[in-house]
Amino acid sequence: MSTEQVIKNQQHSNMWRMSVAPMMDWTDKHCRYLHRQLSRHALLYTEMVTTGALLHGDVARHLRFEVEEHPVALQLGGSEPADLAHSARLGEQWGYDEINLNCGCPSERVQRGAFGACLMNEAALVADCVKAMVDTVSVPVTVKHRIGIDRNESYEFMRDFVGTVADAGCQVFIVHARNAWLKGLSPKENREIPPLRYEVVAQLKKEFPHLTIAINGGIKMDATVQQQLEVVDGVMIGREAYHNPWWLASWDALYYGDDSRQRTRESVEEQMVLYMEREARAHGTHWYAIARHMLGLRNGLPGARRWRQVWSDHRLKHLAPAEVMKLARTKPQQASELLSFA
Ligand SMILES: Cc1cc2nc3c(=O)[nH]c(=O)nc-3n(C[C@H](O)[C@H](O)[C@H](O)COP(=O)(O)O)c2cc1C
Repeated sequence: MSTEQVIKNQQHSNMWRMSVAPMMDWTDKHCRYLHRQLSRHALLYTEMVTTGALLHGDVARHLRFEVEEHPVALQLGGSEPADLAHSARLGEQWGYDEINLNCGCPSERVQRGAFGACLMNEAALVADCVKAMVDTVSVPVTVKHRIGIDRNESYEFMRDFVGTVADAGCQVFIVHARNAWLKGLSPKENREIPPLRYEVVAQLKKEFPHLTIAINGGIKMDATVQQQLEVVDGVMIGREAYHNPWWLASWDALYYGDDSRQRTRESVEEQMVLYMEREARAHGTHWYAIARHMLGLRNGLPGARRWRQVWSDHRLKHLAPAEVMKLARTKPQQASELLSFA
């Protein structure tokens, strides 16, 4: 590899240092907007969008996002090289910074479509898919996968998968450090029951030092992030980022050496209210569809429960978001007086 390529890879690998995982029904554009208020640098992933949805569905509905969300990666689900190339091109045209292929989702619906985690059994097909996308777009094409399928815990199986796909032009792998058991477990159980084996990901990085390797799965604390950043290039956080979004507010200073933006939970809430007003005006989005993602913002603080209850109270749906914020910040007794006028 040339020096130029090595430098390019090093700059690249910083892009994956911290990221928020793709999560269906959770990491929609509203959720990403919230996360971007908290961290300027973390890479944000979309929910998985299938090639079928982009070929036959409403492209704008699936791909529209705010310019403030950058850097943002589009995750695709599919297994047809031509369809993936078409979808990747759309993603690039809509401005996404990366195209990611899902080779880690174990749900039955996804298996019936023959994509997601079962693609790990088809390394040559994944290589074709990656090549078709790499030949079509100039943004990075990356793969998110598991460390194995079913009870097969062979390191060589994953190594050969990564080797084959890397040869087709993929330089970045995000590895969910547990197997996917394709039979008998729900997707939720598949995120909890197969054991985490971080050491396998470390071994992968050792064997492919020139590739960018990010680790994912069960990471909830800075201490673990710091340990992992000694070993691999990046850490992807899923559920903890969603349930405890305030964690992201410390990432810029801790992981990117950037402490230029001071935020408080209140200032983030105020930004979200402005966003709710803009979204309502421009797209008719109800604030309720946005507020559902920020319910964990005050976790751990006194009064968090009541704040969360106000922002998720469907009886307040007729109020403007600024009014809801006022109620959420009001002491319970005053709030009931305010509510009786609402
Ligand atoms: C609600 C939910 C939806 C998910 N949807 C996707 C998805 O669309 N694509 C994907 O690759 N992984 C998906 N995942 C898996 C996460 O990206 C991540 O790999 C997993 O949650 C493990 O990371 P964590 O322990 O930090 O949560 C989903 C996880 C959750 C909780």
